Amino acid sequence: MAHAELTVNDLRNLENKIKDKSAEIGIVGLGYVGLPLALAFVEAGFNVTGIDSDKTRINKITRGISYLLDIESPRLKKAVTSGRLKATVSPSAMRRVDTIIICVPTPLTSTKEPDLTYIISATNEIARYLRLGHLVILESTTYPGTTREVVLPLLESTGLKVGVDYFLTFSPERIDPGSRQFTIRNTPKVVGGMEPKSTRFAAMLYGHVSDKVLEVSSPEVAEMDKVFENVFRSVNIALVNELAKLCEKMNVNVWEVIKAASSKPFGYMPFYPGPGVGGHCIPLDPYYLASKAREYFFHTRFIELAAEINETMPEYIVQRIVDVLNTSSKSVKGAKILILGVAYKKDIEDLRESPALRVIELLIEKKAKVNYNDPYISEIKEHNLRMKSVKLDKKAAGNYDCVVILTAHSCYDLKAIVSDSKLVFDTRGCTVGMKADNVIRLGE
Ligand SMILES: NC(=O)c1ccc[n+]([C@@H]2O[C@H](COP(=O)([O-])OP(=O)(O)OC[C@H]3O[C@@H](n4cnc5c(N)ncnc54)[C@H](O)[C@@H]3O)[C@@H](O)[C@H]2O)c1
Repeated sequence: MAHAELTVNDLRNLENKIKDKSAEIGIVGLGYVGLPLALAFVEAGFNVTGIDSDKTRINKITRGISYLLDIESPRLKKAVTSGRLKATVSPSAMRRVDTIIICVPTPLTSTKEPDLTYIISATNEIARYLRLGHLVILESTTYPGTTREVVLPLLESTGLKVGVDYFLTFSPERIDPGSRQFTIRNTPKVVGGMEPKSTRFAAMLYGHVSDKVLEVSSPEVAEMDKVFENVFRSVNIALVNELAKLCEKMNVNVWEVIKAASSKPFGYMPFYPGPGVGGHCIPLDPYYLASKAREYFFHTRFIELAAEINETMPEYIVQRIVDVLNTSSKSVKGAKILILGVAYKKDIEDLRESPALRVIELLIEKKAKVNYNDPYISEIKEHNLRMKSVKLDKKAAGNYDCVVILTAHSCYDLKAIVSDSKLVFDTRGCTVGMKADNVIRLGE
């Protein structure tokens, strides 16, 4: 297809627009990753258009109502009323932006294979509106090779050439939901473009919202970096989960062991046991890498073993609950059990892949009478579960045969909960140091 090419002036123009913040930014997918990023760019002085296929989310944004715990509504409202943040369901908005950042989900199929349908459909939309000078950045976590093998061919089907007519980069998101300590600003951003100009433009752009940008030589390095970071967590969590089980058998306190090991100033960093892993990263990303590795006749045994250990933690926790009830001569059948915290980690409202869902399912299968409380998740409508969070009024915990702490949100008054409860099973070590005879902990 014959087309005009970008001139040196056009390139300078794009560079200047990024430098002086007049570049219009489009963000596709306004979830846990896309919305905070949109706000970061708005607050840095850019105009941002968010595009999301979910009408409810778009309506909320336009009314300045946040649907994420990490984003306060007044902050969102300020961005919208300033006119700097616009939100739409219409992909045609991509036509008038200069850079497009893709933040759509990357789930697994039912057979635990990478499901790239969201990336593919977002890229197809971008291809419809791709024009000279566009900078396209993929942020969704995925296996190494996605940018080159999946995104690039869809964009090149337009006849435009990367590095000549438009730019394409992978830059992984490293958001830490629920954390006040680590933000987009103080978490270094990694960028790996299809060619040097793609890397440079993306690095310049992110330099406005992140104090440190690290340029790597290719999208594959950036993609592998992201999955490696998550696999690293998965493997270490699996290791400490295994250690917790062993400590129980050997009557050694795993929490004390971790504390002692943490005193070593080099060569060690602490990970903690728990009921399993959840969220959109740790349970999924190892499968992205394992699946891609099979294409190279390579079996990622370590990574798959870690996933297996973490995934079987809910079963183990339920077996421990059976044992814990046994200590007070109760059978799990008919026992009243209160689960505290169902979000996959503390101080967030994300239920995706939460191990709590499996724990509750297994307890119900064993005919326990299960209620849950989570200040951030008012109801569960996942798997076959239909439940509403019960109130944690004063003394409420005392109505249960066992209170199981699965996610120790900071707002829980643990002392009061322990003193009100007949029996507590703490899977997070949040009661360590409390002197109470009615508490049994994972890993002790
Ligand atoms: N949540 C995290 O903590 C986290 C951290 C780092 C990386 N990631 C990665 O970032 C990506 C996004 O995750 P998330 O947690 O923000 O997901 P999310 O489900 O919270 O948000 C994704 C948004 O994309 C929208 N969407 C889907 N397809 C679309 C399309 N074709 N056009 C427009 N909008 C579309 C959805 O409606 C949704 O609002 C994933 O790859 C994830 O693995 C997530």
